[in-house]
Amino acid sequence: MYKIAVAGTGYVGLVSGVSLAEVGHRVTCVDIDEKKINIMKQGISPIYEQDLEGLMQKNYAAGRLTYTTDYQSAYKDADAVFIGVGTPEQPDGSANLSFIATVARQIAETIENDCLIVVKSTVPVGTNDKVEQFIQDFLVHDVKVEVASNPEFLAQGTAVRDTLQAARIIIGTESTWAEERLMKIYEPFKLPIVSVNRRSAEMIKYASNDFLALKISYMNDIANLCELVGADIQDVARGMSYDERIGSKFLNAGIGYGGSCFPKDTTALEYLAKQHGYQLRTVTATINVNKDQKTILYRKACRRLITFSGLKVAVLGLTFKPGTDDLREAPSLDNVPLLLAQGADIYAYDPVGKENFKRKYPAGKHGVGSITYVEQIENALDDANVCFIFTEWGQIKEIEPEAYKKLMRTPLVYDGRNIYSTAAMKEAQVEYYSIGRS
Ligand code: UGA
Repeated sequence: MYKIAVAGTGYVGLVSGVSLAEVGHRVTCVDIDEKKINIMKQGISPIYEQDLEGLMQKNYAAGRLTYTTDYQSAYKDADAVFIGVGTPEQPDGSANLSFIATVARQIAETIENDCLIVVKSTVPVGTNDKVEQFIQDFLVHDVKVEVASNPEFLAQGTAVRDTLQAARIIIGTESTWAEERLMKIYEPFKLPIVSVNRRSAEMIKYASNDFLALKISYMNDIANLCELVGADIQDVARGMSYDERIGSKFLNAGIGYGGSCFPKDTTALEYLAKQHGYQLRTVTATINVNKDQKTILYRKACRRLITFSGLKVAVLGLTFKPGTDDLREAPSLDNVPLLLAQGADIYAYDPVGKENFKRKYPAGKHGVGSITYVEQIENALDDANVCFIFTEWGQIKEIEPEAYKKLMRTPLVYDGRNIYSTAAMKEAQVEYYSIGRS
């Protein structure tokens, strides 16, 4: 059992902290946001994530998990400090490392014991070498300190499961001391550990995410061709998936990938390559296909309708995927402004994303258009002229094809997630457009 501090209580930090406590370590989660810390002390999770709150309450009650804004007390005698702070994308595509630098400096000025610094945040290859040097430069006490790279592979909505039952744990270290300490910390997880050097660990994270993004963009590209030649992308994906070399996951064509990871990590790797004078062509193609894909349904609808002005437009799903309230890079954010600018009266439904969306687009008029938020899908569809589906929430999937015909003024549906069979929509007399199917 180790004494561990975790810096940052976003998705990565909080889920890591809770999981480390769950396997028996003594964990202190540190954040600068006092309000957030107080909420967590009351057993409330600041993020919407299955199983997280239960584990927070259980481990807090057991005394293995605490929360504080006082980083000094947390770092001072920690055996390891995990860094899970954000590395947001900057306008030029590079990662903003200022949060990591702040934490690194605080650690350097505070630690009084030998300490392993474990960077979980996604950082450009070579960053952890710099973080180690930075800490050495500011170190106050004469202690041993090393940095390990330990990238995170959790997906939002399944974060706890992805951590406690991860397919693999990647650890990137530069000494036996660091490797052994991190191995011991992860021993109780009983999961496969891949131990590599620090730069390879950093690259594994980008290469994995960008490969998954590439897989999605590839399927979207093929889907667009399927439409032109009369093939069905879902059948094509099914046929491909039996080949174990391809696999069945991440073959769903749709309205483009979003979230806090794929868009950021593809741009960051492209930027890193450029810095080294290399053009990462596959990643550039991934990014370009995704950009176009996000508005493909809007453009289809523009070809079908004279105008959106004065039309009631149902928007089903705002978040970038189901199971999260996160709107980052969500296709809804690309499409809603286009619809509003065209004078659409949007009726938006999302089981958890409405509040976040409202902050960007408050209910009411927006130029020539307007937006209204509804609690029930039926209220969005009622008398609507057109419907867009942007997120495959279970609640939306449950809506029967007949409901569109019954409720809408004109049953015209643009589905960015291929949730209905084209045959069922045809039978229900719904004019249905989706991705990669005719
Ligand atoms: C992603 C990775 O899946 C995680 O392994 C990784 O740890 C994480 O990024 C990260 O770097 O932190 P996440 O962004 O939470 O996780 O969500 P995903 O479930 O991967 O979905 C990303 C996007 O791809 C969503 O917009 C989703 O709708 C889209 N997607 C996914 C498709 O369009 N088609 C698919 O077949 C799968």
